[in-house]
Amino acid sequence: MKEKKQNNILELFSPYVPEAVTSRILEGKGSLPSERSEATIVFIDIRGFTKLADQLDPEKAIEIINNIFEPIVGLIDKYGGSINKFLGDGLMAIFGAPFSHEDDPERAARASLEIMKSIEENGKIKIGNKVKNLKARIGINTGLCISGEIGSASRKEFTVIGDTVNLASRLQANATPGKILIGEKTFHRIKDNFITSPPRKLKIKGKKDLVSVYILKGEEKKISFFEQKKNSHSPFMGREKELKNLKEALKKSYQSKGQVIEISGELGIGKSRLILELTKESLTKEFNIFSSNCSSWEESKPYAPLREIFIKIFGIKFDDDFKEIDKKIENKIKEIDSSLLFASSYFSRLLSSKTKSLEEMMEQSKEESNLFIRVVKKLLFSFSSKKPLLIIIEDVQWIDDASGEFLIQCSKELKEYPILLLYSLRESLKKRDSIAGSKRIRLLPLKNTESDKLIRLLIKENDIYQLMSEKIISTANGNPLFIEEIVRGIEERRLSADKDRLGNYPEIFANFQIPDTVQSIARARIDLLPVGLKEILYQASVLGRDIEIKLLQKITNLEVKILLEMMKELQKHEFIEEVEAAPQLQRYFAFTHSLIQEIAYNSLLFKTRRSLHNKIGTVMEEMYLSKIDAKVEELAYHFKNSDDQEKAVFYLNKAGDKAQSLYAFKNAINYYRDSIKILELTELEKEQLTQLSEIYNKLAFSRSIIGERKEAEINLTKALEYCRKIRDKDNESLILMSMGNLYGDMGQWDKAIEYFQDSLLISEEINNLRRKASILKGIGLACLFKGDTSTGYSYLKESINICKEIKALDVYAMALNNIGIYYDMLGRWKKAIEAYKESLSIAKKIKNIIVISNIMNNIGFAYSSLGESKQAIYYLKESVKIADKIGDIYNKGINYIHLGEEYLKKNEFTEVKYYIFHGEKIFDELDDKLGLADIYRLEAKLLKKLERWKDSEIFFKKAIKTYLKFGDKINEGETYYELGDMLILKRDIDLAKKNLIKSQKILKNIGAKKHLIEIEEKLNNLKK
Ligand SMILES: Nc1ncnc2c1ncn2[C@@H]1O[C@H](COP(=O)(O)OP(=O)(O)OP(=O)(O)O)[C@@H](O)[C@H]1O
Ligand SMILES: [Mg+2]
Repeated sequence: MKEKKQNNILELFSPYVPEAVTSRILEGKGSLPSERSEATIVFIDIRGFTKLADQLDPEKAIEIINNIFEPIVGLIDKYGGSINKFLGDGLMAIFGAPFSHEDDPERAARASLEIMKSIEENGKIKIGNKVKNLKARIGINTGLCISGEIGSASRKEFTVIGDTVNLASRLQANATPGKILIGEKTFHRIKDNFITSPPRKLKIKGKKDLVSVYILKGEEKKISFFEQKKNSHSPFMGREKELKNLKEALKKSYQSKGQVIEISGELGIGKSRLILELTKESLTKEFNIFSSNCSSWEESKPYAPLREIFIKIFGIKFDDDFKEIDKKIENKIKEIDSSLLFASSYFSRLLSSKTKSLEEMMEQSKEESNLFIRVVKKLLFSFSSKKPLLIIIEDVQWIDDASGEFLIQCSKELKEYPILLLYSLRESLKKRDSIAGSKRIRLLPLKNTESDKLIRLLIKENDIYQLMSEKIISTANGNPLFIEEIVRGIEERRLSADKDRLGNYPEIFANFQIPDTVQSIARARIDLLPVGLKEILYQASVLGRDIEIKLLQKITNLEVKILLEMMKELQKHEFIEEVEAAPQLQRYFAFTHSLIQEIAYNSLLFKTRRSLHNKIGTVMEEMYLSKIDAKVEELAYHFKNSDDQEKAVFYLNKAGDKAQSLYAFKNAINYYRDSIKILELTELEKEQLTQLSEIYNKLAFSRSIIGERKEAEINLTKALEYCRKIRDKDNESLILMSMGNLYGDMGQWDKAIEYFQDSLLISEEINNLRRKASILKGIGLACLFKGDTSTGYSYLKESINICKEIKALDVYAMALNNIGIYYDMLGRWKKAIEAYKESLSIAKKIKNIIVISNIMNNIGFAYSSLGESKQAIYYLKESVKIADKIGDIYNKGINYIHLGEEYLKKNEFTEVKYYIFHGEKIFDELDDKLGLADIYRLEAKLLKKLERWKDSEIFFKKAIKTYLKFGDKINEGETYYELGDMLILKRDIDLAKKNLIKSQKILKNIGAKKHLIEIEEKLNNLKK
């Protein structure tokens, strides 16, 4: 009978019990366990439960079991325990074996208290008209157990046995219903944090002496400062007005009136805290919140905060491989805004650290680098249509250049989106003037009354508060972090005084000197730590703000268990805190405040610091072996600060390549310069010379793109010098090609051609066909611009032939496009359109949307020259459509100028004005001076048609001034020509002559023959 009953219950329990356990209980056999270790055992018994279950019909019984047992199972799991077996009316759970936590007794206690509560809530069972209240009895005991696996070879299960287990069971049997009885050892391990009854002596069967037992009543009301702070913060004081403003902004952005808010103020004044308080607002539940930090050691890492945001959006996990990442990105983009699919490669480069070679980068159009940030921004904006966005970027004083650029872009354009962009920084950002429309909140010190209230709440002992309050207020000056640090210092002093029973507080605190900066008080607190702990804190500081336990463990060579003990100790002193664990990490800590990390870091001897950085770098290399590319910036940082120069150069260089691939040119420049700096101090063997010449070449590329052309020229000269020393042909031809590109950008066609020719010779020598095609294309274009059209044409043709042969479609499309430009220049518009259209079909094949929109633009332009206005406008507007779709407002602006020109020809002035107005707005927003100059020039031409000579002259001159300033010779020359022409109409002959001659001089100088004949003619006419 008895056995049958047990079977019955086990059937009911079976959803909760591993099969091995059930069978083990039924079979009652197994081999002996084999390990001694400490564990905390919990027995739970729900009195009368089986009897009750028997009275009910099976369906009802199962429902009740679910209601009662599911929460129990969940709670035990929540606190890291495991259910070992179900017995009669209850179960046995183990905390601490086979896997232990340093606080297993506390976990067991917490779980038991919550289980009691849950049974109280769910244990009211209706039978007929009666309600029966189920009550549990729980026994907890801690001690040595023998543990291990028992069972047959095929079916093993884990269990514990021994006196500790027996006593736990006895305690449960002796508990009155609704109570938790705990043993002596458990009591000692939890007494600081829990409330218990006074001890009771109990006679236990099989024990000679009486044992002390306690009733566990609840968790301790937090008494000491440190416990009060656990998982919480100081009570929030003041800041009513600031919080109100933030809430208003939140509301507005919720209604699609995008807001940008800057929160500034000194270290520790409460910027992060204010933001935290905002995120407690119920309205923030309606938002997707993305929060990220900038940090002092990531100042060069491109898009550090952005990466965090997009990793979340795409749901990317650390273990995902490239393929998975790409797939996730594509799927998500499809979901958010499928018109941006063309840009998925941008995101995979951002997140999976693929890089492009310099040569690949050189083949791209300049627009592509402008586009990157815009596409990223567009996706983020589109994402906000699902759910409003709250984007928080903290510590912007350390933002990297590329992210800074991004911030500026976003702030300009989010006005119509449901986005609140919040950023915090210590002091004013240099770039902040360009962060448009941001509202600024500057945090001032707390008022004395607020400080006082805070201090009163933080210091529990009234006499200490009385003694110290005024002193703290006057020293801390309303800085809450300072107040907290002082209170911590006082609390530590009090604790040690209490321990040593040193006497009364007035004596102890009368001559307590408070250091006068928050740094020195924090340092003093650190100094009080025992040597071993201090050492751990110091070593952790080299890791940065976040402390990955696995990494720290490898550097310190301590056992995890010991290390965790120490971390717990440091946590008690509030130097560090445990943070939410990322899935791949076991435990994860962070410094409570960057101040602590900074102080600890700065306390290290220079030499020690360097060797620690080295150690960290080496350990990271091992740990992240397969994911090393994702960590190059961190590795670059650590090795740069170590003595391993070779690795420093290696990773700095890699980080530079990655930045360059992400169009984060300023970041790339920083990395390349750092690596050059190190290299040039070493002995220059062949390997170093090779590296140097390559890095200088890449550096020059980044610089030329951001407009630092003079510097780029110097860098390329260096690159050439180094590479000629070692006779590296391949590299030499690449550098010469860079030179050609650079001079081409500057409009110095002859020089460009010269370098291209040199490069061509070598690339022929080393038989690099692809490069040859690129160079030929470059020479061709330079010749065209120079006015040497037929020579240009033959070069382009040659390039095309090679492209066809080696199937280099990207170069092919561009070369064809250049052929179009050639016909354009000759005035053979129909042929031009033919070439453009062919180029368009290739661009569509390789899905290069930027090239597509460029070519559309050119086609429109050619139709315009042909006088086919309708076609022209069609293509230009198509190009605008693409630009709109991909958020490329730069190209949209350029198209607006062309459209304006077209309507000007047709004398449709209202249209012209429309495009001028909106074009100007775009270039204003982009802060693009050359674009603005083009708009002025268009406006001047409009005024010329309207015969408003004076105004027209003013605008021509405005445009010329800008072209001059930026060294844009072609446009400068052409505008002088147009101005001269206007002056002829105005009949201001002398001045007209002057301007025409100026134009002639400039255009001749750069070898642009296009307008020279017309100018000659006009000048001759004037002479007559
Ligand atoms: N108004 C406040 N009331 C109570 N405590 C506050 C208040 N403001 C800040 N604190 C506390 O002061 C400490 C420092 O605040 P916080 O970290 O927000 O400073 P911060 O301005 O972000 O500093 P940093 O420039 O270093 O980032 C925190 O522990 C925080 O909880
Ligand atoms: Mg902060």
